[in-house]
Amino acid sequence: MSEVGDQLCFFINGKKVTESHADPETMLLSYLRERLRLTGTKYGCGGGGCGACTVMVSRYQPATKTIMHYSANACLLPVCQLHGAAVTTVEGIGSTKTRIHPVQERIAKAHGSQCGFCTPGMVMSMYTLLRNNPQPSLEDVTQALAGNLCRCTGYRPIVDGCRTFCQEANCCQSNSFGTCCVNGEGGPDEPPLLFDKDEFLPLDPTQELIFPPELILKAQASPQTLTFRGERVRWVSPASLEELVQLKTSNPEAPLVMGNTNIGPDMKFKGVLHPLVISPTSVMELFEVTQTSQGVWVGAGCSLSEVQSLLEKLLLLYPEEKTELFRALIQQLRNLGNQQIRNVASLGGNIMSAYPNSDLNPLLAAGNSRVSVICDGGRREVPLNQDFFIGFGKTILERKEILLSVFIPFSRKWEFVRAFRQAPRKDGSFPTVTTGMRVFFSKGSRVVQDISIYFGGMGPTTVSAAETCAAISSRPWDEETLSRAYDVLLDELVLPPSAPGGKVEFRRSLTLSFLFRFYLEVLQKLKEMGVVTGDIQEVIQPLPREIQHSLQEFQHVSKNQSDWDSVGRPIMHRSAISQATGEAVYCDDMPRTDGELFLVPVTSSRAHAKITGMDVSEALKLPGVMDVIMAKDIPGKKVRESFGYTEELLAESEVSCIGQMVCAVVADSRTHAKRGAAAVKISYEDLPDPIFTIEEAVERSSFFEPQRDIERGNVSEGFRTADRLYEGEIRMGGQEHFYMETQSMLVVPVGEEVELNVYVSTQSPATAQEAISETLDIPSNRVICHVKRIGGAFGGKLTKTSILVSITSVAAWKANRAVRCVLDRGDDMLISGGRHPLLAKYKVGFMSDGRIVAADIQYFMNGGNTLDESVLVAEKVLLHMDNAYNIPNLRGSCSICRTNLPSNTAFRGFGVPQSLLVVENMIEDVALALGRPVNQVRKINMYEGTSITHYKFQFDPENLHRCWEECLVKSNYSARRAAVDQFNQQNRWKKRGMALIPIKYGIGFAEPFLNQAAALIHIYKDGSVLVLHGGTEMGQGLHTKMQQVASRELHIPTSKIYISETSTNTVPNTMPTAASFGTDSNSMAIKNGCQILYRRLEPFRRKNPKGSWESWVKEAFLDKVSLSATGFFRGPDLYMDWDKKEGQPYAYFMYGVCCCEVEVDVLTGDYRTLRTDIMIDIGRSLNPSVDIGQIEGAFMQGVGLYTLEELKFSPSGLLYTRGPTQYKIPAVCDLPLSFNVYLLSDSNNPHAIYSSKGIGEPTLFLGSTVFFAIKDAVAAARSEAGLVGPFQLDSPATPEKTCLACAAPFIQKIPTSKPGSFKPWALNI
Ligand SMILES: Cc1cc2nc3c(=O)[nH]c(=O)nc-3n(C[C@H](O)[C@H](O)[C@H](O)COP(=O)(O)OP(=O)(O)OC[C@H]3O[C@@H](n4cnc5c(N)ncnc54)[C@H](O)[C@@H]3O)c2cc1C
Ligand code: FES
Ligand code: FES
Repeated sequence: MSEVGDQLCFFINGKKVTESHADPETMLLSYLRERLRLTGTKYGCGGGGCGACTVMVSRYQPATKTIMHYSANACLLPVCQLHGAAVTTVEGIGSTKTRIHPVQERIAKAHGSQCGFCTPGMVMSMYTLLRNNPQPSLEDVTQALAGNLCRCTGYRPIVDGCRTFCQEANCCQSNSFGTCCVNGEGGPDEPPLLFDKDEFLPLDPTQELIFPPELILKAQASPQTLTFRGERVRWVSPASLEELVQLKTSNPEAPLVMGNTNIGPDMKFKGVLHPLVISPTSVMELFEVTQTSQGVWVGAGCSLSEVQSLLEKLLLLYPEEKTELFRALIQQLRNLGNQQIRNVASLGGNIMSAYPNSDLNPLLAAGNSRVSVICDGGRREVPLNQDFFIGFGKTILERKEILLSVFIPFSRKWEFVRAFRQAPRKDGSFPTVTTGMRVFFSKGSRVVQDISIYFGGMGPTTVSAAETCAAISSRPWDEETLSRAYDVLLDELVLPPSAPGGKVEFRRSLTLSFLFRFYLEVLQKLKEMGVVTGDIQEVIQPLPREIQHSLQEFQHVSKNQSDWDSVGRPIMHRSAISQATGEAVYCDDMPRTDGELFLVPVTSSRAHAKITGMDVSEALKLPGVMDVIMAKDIPGKKVRESFGYTEELLAESEVSCIGQMVCAVVADSRTHAKRGAAAVKISYEDLPDPIFTIEEAVERSSFFEPQRDIERGNVSEGFRTADRLYEGEIRMGGQEHFYMETQSMLVVPVGEEVELNVYVSTQSPATAQEAISETLDIPSNRVICHVKRIGGAFGGKLTKTSILVSITSVAAWKANRAVRCVLDRGDDMLISGGRHPLLAKYKVGFMSDGRIVAADIQYFMNGGNTLDESVLVAEKVLLHMDNAYNIPNLRGSCSICRTNLPSNTAFRGFGVPQSLLVVENMIEDVALALGRPVNQVRKINMYEGTSITHYKFQFDPENLHRCWEECLVKSNYSARRAAVDQFNQQNRWKKRGMALIPIKYGIGFAEPFLNQAAALIHIYKDGSVLVLHGGTEMGQGLHTKMQQVASRELHIPTSKIYISETSTNTVPNTMPTAASFGTDSNSMAIKNGCQILYRRLEPFRRKNPKGSWESWVKEAFLDKVSLSATGFFRGPDLYMDWDKKEGQPYAYFMYGVCCCEVEVDVLTGDYRTLRTDIMIDIGRSLNPSVDIGQIEGAFMQGVGLYTLEELKFSPSGLLYTRGPTQYKIPAVCDLPLSFNVYLLSDSNNPHAIYSSKGIGEPTLFLGSTVFFAIKDAVAAARSEAGLVGPFQLDSPATPEKTCLACAAPFIQKIPTSKPGSFKPWALNI
């Protein structure tokens, strides 16, 4: 074995890379980004859960003489593993400088790229699919994209762009002319489309990079032992099995690194250090496949994708009765992780990781699999049974033993094998509970001869339900046996109430549900085989998953509009192509400057404590660590202020939440800074009784001031006149922003007079500038903040960003060197807070026809440890508490709870999604109490004619009613409602539900000074125009719309206009880009500036009417006319007087109505949205593709909020959910199967540019339509159990909550533990 490291050799984008100092701890992602400056591949999570870092890996396989291409996550791929491989990144497939690839083009032109941060990953997943299968099915496409998260688009446009590669994609078949609309065969007034497929480049596989012949030769040669040495870790890749055995014998603690999907996250996130790792990828025996008469031996090194395709091939060779286990395994493999994970994760790695909720282990165990292992003592076979898995991450094998292969046996006639799993999200999620079940009958009988059942997710490791099996064995397969088995199973698999992972009742009920399912499926088989006769209960079919074509309806622009005038046309996001090619530059893509340092914050590990000491000496001794920044280093203000409260930049003497920043380590690299941060020791003295939940805060009156309240009419009197009263409550969880680009900033000292150039991903460069100037005690004119683009923000890049950038500036100022800070996903989620969780209690008085006469609602929000923007959020909660309803006597109060959790902050919708959920839930309760159709109750209470809100704001709700009526028609509501009712009568274990939800949303800032904007416009001598304005581009297409506005005002095409960035030295004192007001305000400033310039050119146009734009510009220049102008918009003087409880806080209302239909699996709580129809009034859309993109994206973010995303905190206040593996945002699998958006026609809005309306935030709330559709389905399930009337379903309606609310018989069997009698695993904050 070489003691000097070997040379690593692989190819990237056709170019050879040799590395003499390959560090085993370096992953491909950082190698690409930092070493090779290939920044198209993005960091989103670092743990394989988001797909932003997807690349294609190609390898030559000498055995089959083929080249294998697979997608992989660069963040988990050690560079050392790549010896002999060819890697293709997004830069390697196309660029704007050469030729863009059809995948890049189609995703961009189909409007599938908003902030663009996920786009290179999407492109590479799709590209890899096409390399393997140039004409994929739609199912192939959705499978390929299942591991790629997008927080902006809602996936519909990405799927639509990608499906153009599918053969079936050629016609939507829904054109009202009954003809094909996609290829333009419709009638003369054919509705406009968002993109034109005819423009697309054809896919030409001959244009792809060839596999390097040098690597083929290398692969054909005999393998060599390789050693790589890094700073802390040695990597050895043995060339033979013998060598591997020797190595493992002498280093039993050293792990075998295969896919690195378990070891990698352990090393990264848990700080596990392995001084030696062994990579056995050259050991042929680990990849061998041998068929025998009993089954198949599969090499432990085979990837899960290889195992899946092997089993799929074998299905074709053997009769069905022999492949029961194979089919069950295929089904599990399809749902396990995502494609990128399955492509690298090995079969042996999955078994040996011994995860408590491994999908494969319960099934392999139930299926009588066994493994062959080897060590210096020889080989042996070990059955995979209850004795194999001995604890969390532990198996019975000795440390020196190597898993060589796995035997997957054939099934026998009369033997049936099934697998079931339930996960928080349908795809890309570890299961909550998973199971493998096998039963064998005596020939021709229903008597069980042998049965085997294993579960994952029911303890620290895979567990056997041996006693349950014993209770079933030798008994007939019938309901009596089954009902005995349930009782035994319940006693056998007991989970303590505080079991890790929580969801105790749900998990226990799932074991029963799965057994029931197994019973039904086997019974069906026995019937087919003639053993069972008569009527049997039907097998529960899986939920539908086939994506249909979707519709996007908008109006044509007027026939008189000039071709160059793009206003009202579906123009592609101006950066979409560069985003798809990976050329678009985000903050962390900026090249390193000379001597640049990296900063990593150190956060509190206590929720409420005094800091008694801070020892940074160990950190400072580590390689590369330069400094530790503490509060005492801050030369200026050490706090940020809001509403009279202050927030410390760095805690000095006391901490008030886990995740509060205490100090920050500065080092010469990201890795060194992280290691330094881990070495800082802070000692604490805990302070008594930290407060975490809303209830605790209420009990101890821990509130921030001011508390807000509002009242109209006389609520007490209203209650007296009401026919009926009802009191209810609803709780709503918080939400993590999960912008794909984490908090990022780079502060570069200019070198004189404390001048700083700051590149920061923020929605408010002026706030960042102000914060830095106060922190460093320097005037604002020394700080220039630049924002080129933001990889998603959603409200989360405002207050915390200014704190982080202030700390980074202190470091840069102190070192007089550039300092970069880019948060890891885990730190970002821990530190930055999110949407406020809310508890609402209400009393409502109503008449028997459904009219609500009075309502009193108390809202409690969990504000966290600092005030942040909570008061403004509370105000918006109260201002929207009426939604679309005219409640004559209405009272609301909102208290912000001060707790020891990270501070919550602005989030798209800013309190409205919480507020509207409450009022809609209250309406549902009224309808359920009266037994009336809920739509009738909604309609009867809606504002009619000229109306006045509870804060005395006059408006006309006509367009609200138009949206309601048109949505009823477009969604074919009545007929589908009847079909849903019929479905529910015919199905016991699956229920459908429908909901129709309206929205009225106020646009504008209630704080008058925020309604202003400015712009700076330069016309250059060549006629090109540079537009600069105060808004930031975060994916919402603001710059695209601003280009359209400037184009109309200057009468030139958009191609002559460029928007380079937002910066504080070009447009000062800007407002945050927020509140859906960015377009309304900045466009007016641009309009103003352009009109000034256009007027200046007037004499030259008049003098030479036939001249060109360029000629007028040139003439004006020669005539000494200034070609630069500022534009300004003094927006409406909106206000809200909280003493008088009245005001005009909004410029206007935006309206919409959404209809959703879902199908719910009563036994697992799983659901699927079958169809969504959204009708929206956004006036005259400036750009239908951008606006529809906002509508769909916000809707899907709402679906996440109301049905999926759950923040979990430990009893000591630590956020458990710190990455996409634990926190599930919607993925492609959550897309409604049919997703239709219609923009209301003939709507005008005199209050905003060209009669448009703001749209960024409102439709997030419409995601709640899925929640209410689920609630409707749950009501149908409950009625089967004899339960009618109002019931509480809290948000998010996760499978757990949905299933429990359905009150299925299994749920009723589970004993519940008394609250307070145990310490729950997670808090209900
Ligand atoms: C985002 C994500 C999602 C996931 N989702 C799921 C899911 O839904 N369901 C599920 O079941 N799993 C899931 N997983 C887990 C994944 O399947 C396992 O991490 C993977 O199978 C481990 O294989 P590996 O080759 O990557 O192992 P490695 O990380 O390379 O190694 C893991 C361990 O196995 C040992 N090992 C590997 N091979 C051998 C061998 N031949 N002999 C002895 N020891 C060996 C190593 O020493 C090491 O301790 C997910 C993982 C990620 C990152
Ligand atoms: S960054 Fe690699 S999967 Fe998220
Ligand atoms: S466009 Fe997908 S994350 Fe922003």
